[in-house]
Amino acid sequence: MTAIVRRSGGNPTNAPDGGLCLALGDMGSSEATLSSAIRTETAFTVNGLRVKMELDPRESLLDVLRERLGLTGTKKGCDHGQCGACTVHLDGRRIVSCLTPAVQVNGQAVTTIEGVAAPDGTLHPLQEAFIDNDALQCGYCTPGQVMSGLACIAEGHAGDDDEIREYLSGNLCRCGAYAGILAAVRETARRTDPRVGEG
Ligand code: FES
Ligand code: FES
Repeated sequence: MTAIVRRSGGNPTNAPDGGLCLALGDMGSSEATLSSAIRTETAFTVNGLRVKMELDPRESLLDVLRERLGLTGTKKGCDHGQCGACTVHLDGRRIVSCLTPAVQVNGQAVTTIEGVAAPDGTLHPLQEAFIDNDALQCGYCTPGQVMSGLACIAEGHAGDDDEIREYLSGNLCRCGAYAGILAAVRETARRTDPRVGEG
């Protein structure tokens, strides 16, 4: 009889491909058994909407958002946790969705860039500030920059320019729009917290 077992020990998210470690107890039977057996029912919310899906534990949250849910605002840059383009919020905290197994968000709330503006389309003040400060060129990194910028402000890590740079350092911009990004986050933080300095 074919049995699918998880290797014991270790954090499954530490697997080299960022997915779960799986081993077949008996490799002699069909691969179809594997593909169907490892599907895991996962329920979570995305931008306030409930989602329930059968997921392969190896699927990243980034791929589920983009490929299954059509939320392509979240970008895939490196797919290795190094560029920040895939940043989303999970229960209000920023994460890199490329390194997050989608099954891991079961029961939690995901917010993507599509959920930042108001339902009537009014942009968030930080999105307005990105426009006002020319904080983008090609725009590929921008969704991740906005999600990290929002978190940076909410975490209280936007006190001065050095602090903002430090807490946005996980988000790379190949176009080099850093000065505008910094200005946008600083401006928005100052509006919401008058203690925030000039930098
Ligand atoms: S795509 Fe996730 S960190 Fe680069
Ligand atoms: S605006 Fe092009 S990568 Fe940042």
